[in-house]
Amino acid sequence: MNISVLRIGHRLVRDDRVTTHAALVARAFGADMIYMTGILDGSINDTVTSVSKRWGGRFNVKIIQDWKSLAKAWKKEGGKVAHLTMYGINIDDIAERLRKESKILVIIGAEKVPQEAYDLADYNIAIGNQPHSEIAALAIFLDRIFTGKQFKRTFADANLKIVPAEKGKKLQENK
Ligand SMILES: C[S@@+](CC[C@H](N)C(=O)[O-])C[C@H]1O[C@@H](n2cnc3c(N)ncnc32)[C@H](O)[C@@H]1O
Repeated sequence: MNISVLRIGHRLVRDDRVTTHAALVARAFGADMIYMTGILDGSINDTVTSVSKRWGGRFNVKIIQDWKSLAKAWKKEGGKVAHLTMYGINIDDIAERLRKESKILVIIGAEKVPQEAYDLADYNIAIGNQPHSEIAALAIFLDRIFTGKQFKRTFADANLKIVPAEKGKKLQENK
């Protein structure tokens, strides 16, 4: 399953940490890439790229201007668009159907999401019908799709690998 994330509505500076965390969660929970709008400098991209360099994998970050064209092109190529919103259908009522898709673009928002996202989406999905956070929503969504298997995945070309330990920190370095 190919999953890309689209985060729309980044608010300059105040959202930097949340945006970085959304990207790190996307990578660690099994998505292939994240598209982000509203970002003017490269520091978020640099942080995620440096994590991928050390911890492996081929996760990509792309800053875009026009998210609607991206979502439309995605659908034209046969992919589905899933927008995470507290107003949507409960994830547990749709997860089985989603797992049968081959390509999903997951839209998350930073603030109020434009109506077009609801209209363009093939699925408007709620991670519960209470307001919370795009990072939590994304994490739970990816976990429901990958049913926990993402945590057994290994990342190619990692310079650093954790050796799980009951106590302390064990790291393997591949030079
Ligand atoms: C801080 S919320 C903004 C909510 C905003 N009041 C709105 O009307 O969309 C940021 C993002 O978190 C995600 N989110 C928050 N609660 C959610 C929920 N219960 N289910 C799914 N996604 C949620 C959505 O992607 C939302 O755009």
